[in-house]
Amino acid sequence: MEQVHPPLALPGADTTEALALALAPALGAGDVLLLEGPIGAGKTHFARALIQALMPEPEDVPSPTFTLVQLYDGPGFDIWHADLYRLGHPDEAIELGLEEAFETALCLVEWPERLGSARPQGALTLRLAHAPGGKDGREVAFLSGSGAWRKRLAALDLQGAVAGVVPAGEKARHG
Ligand SMILES: Nc1ncnc2c1ncn2[C@@H]1O[C@H](COP(=O)(O)OP(=O)(O)OP(=O)(O)O)[C@@H](O)[C@H]1O
Ligand SMILES: [Mg+2]
Repeated sequence: MEQVHPPLALPGADTTEALALALAPALGAGDVLLLEGPIGAGKTHFARALIQALMPEPEDVPSPTFTLVQLYDGPGFDIWHADLYRLGHPDEAIELGLEEAFETALCLVEWPERLGSARPQGALTLRLAHAPGGKDGREVAFLSGSGAWRKRLAALDLQGAVAGVVPAGEKARHG
């Protein structure tokens, strides 16, 4: 697994959303996006924005904290949103049907560390981390995966998408 994009600064929840919106159109059946980062890093926030961007109709996207998996009937493919924090053993992921979903659906997986050796090879990993020495809420996104992802991401302007977000405070000041 290698870094496939320069780190992206995410100074607030709006920019996490902007990153999800920029990535969404490039994803489809058979793509797996693993969402890493500590509790409260914004993994669900990111997944929610991405799923809502892909759904043809407005859709409520609850956190799969307790259900482990939420399914969505996406545009031509299923979308699986999983939160494996409460997974007891990697075998349970197979029982959930995740291995098959990795091949056929678009899968967004929070706490992928729980997959152990069932972690899919071709996945894109997005890691959300608190910016060192940064103010509260400032984060950095790291993207890693197989080399094929580097090319796919190069076709998107992710940096432009997050840089174009006007922070809520600024919007209020400028009207
Ligand atoms: N870049 C960001 N900077 C600051 N706050 C953010 C950022 N992105 C998301 N948030 C906020 O962080 C909060 C927690 O997000 P979220 O519930 O998505 O975390 P999570 O990573 O899914 O946590 P868990 O591991 O418990 O599932 C939300 O209120 C969200 O708005
Ligand atoms: Mg979550």
